[in-house]
Amino acid sequence: MRFTVAIDGPAAAGKGTIARAVAARFGFAHLDTGLLYRAVARKVLAGMPPAEAARGLTEADLSGEDLRAPEVGQAASRVAALPEVRAALVGFQRAFARREGGAVLDGRDIGTVICPEAEVKLYVVASDARRAERRFRELAARGVDTTEAAVLADLRERDRRDSERATAPLRPAADAVVLDTTDLGIEDAVARAVAVVEAALAARR
Ligand code: C5P
Repeated sequence: MRFTVAIDGPAAAGKGTIARAVAARFGFAHLDTGLLYRAVARKVLAGMPPAEAARGLTEADLSGEDLRAPEVGQAASRVAALPEVRAALVGFQRAFARREGGAVLDGRDIGTVICPEAEVKLYVVASDARRAERRFRELAARGVDTTEAAVLADLRERDRRDSERATAPLRPAADAVVLDTTDLGIEDAVARAVAVVEAALAARR
């Protein structure tokens, strides 16, 4: 069975948590596509030209706690605006999306560019304050020395860059289901996403 769940939205809205839970619930494979851009950014920060870094990316490049650092996120949103970087990453993401057994991909352009034919498209949003609060807690738990105000500024800057770029900007697909997690706990947010996936699966039967 081929079945793709595309989950897009701004930074720290809850996409990753929902994507992992949906994948586990239905036995689908999961790809956090932000990691691809973060891995390219890490190579660029180490001195490699962006297009070369994107074309040479391997699975082994996708691990390491340092990929989650805010400065790598900022660098990721800069390299993600380069059309040649995005083009180099399309094939891998499309193949992942259509793999046998179902796939969940979370990112910014999955429902609009990578997989417009996805069976389920979710666009996850939350207020700026709530996103900053959640991301701050996550970073603090990992021992990153930051403040909620700095996290908020970081998220806003990346969202602005991601929304304003010419290639594959952050925006909901016309047929995406918008899920606002501002006032939802993890369980409720996941339950809503699961219900959307279940309805799409039932419609195929
Ligand atoms: O999701 P995450 O915060 O890890 O993504 C890091 C950056 O990678 C984003 O700010 C965005 O610029 C870029 N990105 C993208 N398209 C995706 C996933 C991430 O442009 N599908």
